[in-house]
Amino acid sequence: MPPLRTGSAEQFRQVRQCLERAGFREQPAASLLGLTRLSDILDGKGGVDAGASDSPLGLLARLFLLGDSAPVSVLERVLPAEAVSSLRALGLVVEEGAPPGQCFAPVLLAPVGEFYFVSDRVSRPDRKPFVAPGDMVFAAVTPETGRFLRLLPNSPCERLLDLGSGTGVGAVAAAGSGVARRAWAADITARATHFAAFNAQLNGVEAVCAVEGDLYAPVAGLVFDRIIAHPPYVPALKTQWVFRDAGEMGEEITRRIVAGLPEFLEPGGRLYCLTTALDMKDRKLDARVREWLGGRAGEFDILLVEFEQFTLKNVAADLVLRGQRASEEGRALLAGFEKAGADRFVHALIVIQRHAGRREPFVVRKTAGRRTGSAEIEWLLAWRNAGAASGFEQRLLEGRYTATESFSLNIAQRFEDGALAVAGMELKTEYPFETECEIQPWAASFLAACGQPRTGFEIYEFCRAENLVRGEVSPEEFTELLRSLVDSGFLELQGFKLPGEAG
Ligand SMILES: C[S@@+](CC[C@H](N)C(=O)[O-])C[C@H]1O[C@@H](n2cnc3c(N)ncnc32)[C@H](O)[C@@H]1O
Repeated sequence: MPPLRTGSAEQFRQVRQCLERAGFREQPAASLLGLTRLSDILDGKGGVDAGASDSPLGLLARLFLLGDSAPVSVLERVLPAEAVSSLRALGLVVEEGAPPGQCFAPVLLAPVGEFYFVSDRVSRPDRKPFVAPGDMVFAAVTPETGRFLRLLPNSPCERLLDLGSGTGVGAVAAAGSGVARRAWAADITARATHFAAFNAQLNGVEAVCAVEGDLYAPVAGLVFDRIIAHPPYVPALKTQWVFRDAGEMGEEITRRIVAGLPEFLEPGGRLYCLTTALDMKDRKLDARVREWLGGRAGEFDILLVEFEQFTLKNVAADLVLRGQRASEEGRALLAGFEKAGADRFVHALIVIQRHAGRREPFVVRKTAGRRTGSAEIEWLLAWRNAGAASGFEQRLLEGRYTATESFSLNIAQRFEDGALAVAGMELKTEYPFETECEIQPWAASFLAACGQPRTGFEIYEFCRAENLVRGEVSPEEFTELLRSLVDSGFLELQGFKLPGEAG
């Protein structure tokens, strides 16, 4: 039975107000606990100095973040009476099971951005060895969920589906911040569904509907203009934790999320899925995602933003070393990856959009740089969407370009016949994505000429006058070069300003 009880809107408001007034937010709470990241509490780190332990913030941090018990007398003295009564009524603070005169929180309650999320505890209040239940509700305060939230767009949408919503964090944050007019939080476990409904009320967000079932089953018949997912992706021979395990290759849930898009994503809508999946030796992940879409793949554009890569051995060994799998299972998983022809695991954001027009779909794969975030991903999608429209070549010729300030041009020189000669040139940038490519000296001269804004046509004419391109190259052919330089972040085209470029 979930430990939480539902209550009146007033009780939830009392609790929210008590948390807010105490300054129970990520940064103040982390500082009070001596942590740089609040998520470190999940590893058992952090403590409250004696001087601060009986302040409202100190008490809330001890109860809800560290999972300690506290004297009932302190609870009643430090927090307002109506808040204490609401905390008790909602099951957020209990005395049953605690030593006499003490109380504890049967859940973890953490601030995430401007919201609060209740999830399952990761330790026992009596500090005896803790075994997480199979349907444990994944904490919203994890670094993984933090990254997931940061990668989601701020642009408004009508109907958002958060698949595998756990605490309901994606749906509650989107509806609570006004990004989504309505949001559905869907999860396979009854426990997560109960927590998501509770969290929506705790945050006073009414536009969230928490539903229980296998992926799209509880929303059959509905369509969405935004689907978000941070699914389980850890390889497992058999499921121990629903929040983590996803079949022998770890891709089972991700594949089914993608396969459901033709039925559940409306034209113009997008999926944002943060996951880990495989590049196979003969087919990269982006090509495989396209296959998962089935016969209607032509209606969908795919953008894959890669954050990390792991070798097959690393993944199998890591599971064993972290005590998540027995050595035997680690070996069996590795043998399975190799037999299937896997090459490496890729941790990536998969964005899939159902394009509204009749045109060829695009498939793009990028590597995230240190500054790559939601704004850069949205920039790329806007740029690619515009670029896929017919007649865009004209804009490429007429628009003004400037070289960006983020890239470096590295020139390698070697001795040749007793004198230093240019042996190669490489363009490199981390922004908006990580890109490096070899270029010819003529392309460097043309980039140098883009220190000042020039139209595509002027650049073309300049290149011809300087004999940088052959005479027979047409302006339209030349636009392909301009397009690829903008795509990589080396040139900026008027109207497609990079979010993080100066000026
Ligand atoms: C890694 S957790 C992420 C939770 C939440 N979205 C977040 O980012 O904090 C994955 C969630 O997917 C849910 N899940 C696993 N298999 C599912 C399925 N077949 N259908 C729906 N939800 C599923 C789990 O119960 C869990 O809550």
